Amino acid sequence: MERIRLGLIGCGGMGGEHLAGMSELMDIADVTAACDINPKTLETAVGVLSKVAGHEIFACSDYKDLTDYVDAVVVVLPHHLHYEVGTFFARRGKHVLMEKPMCNTEEECVNLIEACEENHVTLMTAYPVRYWPEIVKLKELIDSGEYGELFNMSIWTEQYTKYPPSSGWALSAKKLGGGQFFSHGCHYVDVLLWFLGEPVEGMHMGTNLGTPWMEKEGTSNAVIRFKNGALGYHFGTWGARGTEHGYCFQLHTTKGLLDWHRADGKILFYENCNPDMPDEAAPEDLVHVLWEDPDKSKKTQFETRHFLECIRDGKRPMTDGYSSLQGLRCIWRMYEAEEKGTVADLRGLGLDQGRK
Ligand SMILES: NC(=O)c1ccc[n+]([C@@H]2O[C@H](COP(=O)([O-])OP(=O)(O)OC[C@H]3O[C@@H](n4cnc5c(N)ncnc54)[C@H](O)[C@@H]3O)[C@@H](O)[C@H]2O)c1
Repeated sequence: MERIRLGLIGCGGMGGEHLAGMSELMDIADVTAACDINPKTLETAVGVLSKVAGHEIFACSDYKDLTDYVDAVVVVLPHHLHYEVGTFFARRGKHVLMEKPMCNTEEECVNLIEACEENHVTLMTAYPVRYWPEIVKLKELIDSGEYGELFNMSIWTEQYTKYPPSSGWALSAKKLGGGQFFSHGCHYVDVLLWFLGEPVEGMHMGTNLGTPWMEKEGTSNAVIRFKNGALGYHFGTWGARGTEHGYCFQLHTTKGLLDWHRADGKILFYENCNPDMPDEAAPEDLVHVLWEDPDKSKKTQFETRHFLECIRDGKRPMTDGYSSLQGLRCIWRMYEAEEKGTVADLRGLGLDQGRK
């Protein structure tokens, strides 16, 4: 197969991260086009992409003009535009790598999935964390059974995020599709479902105390119970003025603690609890370094390569429309339950139930 002609739509904050990853994809992709309504942003992106591609890039401010130049698009736009742009390209037979969250409503997600199926194009949600080598490694360590059975996975994401006026869309709950939990927590709900399987029930509590610029919550605590009894937890804030956790995954297993901190890129395994004296560490402080990768960038090249390989090989992406929809459905059900003051029933939101 010829290299896949790829266009980037939206070259702002996250678009810049996609630009950074493109140079590692030129064996399978040919970057041919870029689009942004901001002329300066577009000019910068075209400069970078032309160098990466080794030829001129088609540039436009109206995404529709890019159609004839691409086989596939990476959509890195404000959330309220995902549906419109995704379906436009699906209906023209173009494959779609959609930045998260897929779309702002369940109906839009289902319609986009159907548009892609009807037109036989690949739809994938860009969840980079899922494809990072260190997180893939963490999953392998759990699946191997060597480090015990996972009974609680906690994820912390502490950051200070206040979109500037130029990205004012993100300050509107309607355009963002919700608050921090929908916009950012969707990564981690997706990861929790991947590690822990079938969700049964869940609760979310959010606040915009500390993040008054957010219409909905800027800080969230969410907990999910899974079918095998294990628990998953996400604490996410866009209001951190200080942090110790930063971005951190902690997995308690029946043999110890697997721990990943993005700050140092290490996966550690602790087996230092003294079973006879639970408050004390064992005589020998047993901490093992299992992985180290100091690259803290968004590393979009791994997800985009997966998307391109799925197109080439006719395979379904790991984060395809249905798997992404399940995660978003969990979030919507937890939001609804929070309003009612109840616990959300998360059963039956999965892949098979969603497929027609
Ligand atoms: N995967 C991640 O870790 C991650 C991180 C941040 C953002 N994102 C996602 O990336 C997407 C974009 O977010 P962002 O932070 O880059 O936003 P942003 O506001 O920084 O960038 C959006 C860009 O889209 C352009 N744009 C707006 N309307 C347009 C239109 N009609 N046609 C063409 N261009 C248009 C803007 O000019 C801007 O350059 C969102 O889906 C967001 O959730 C993902």
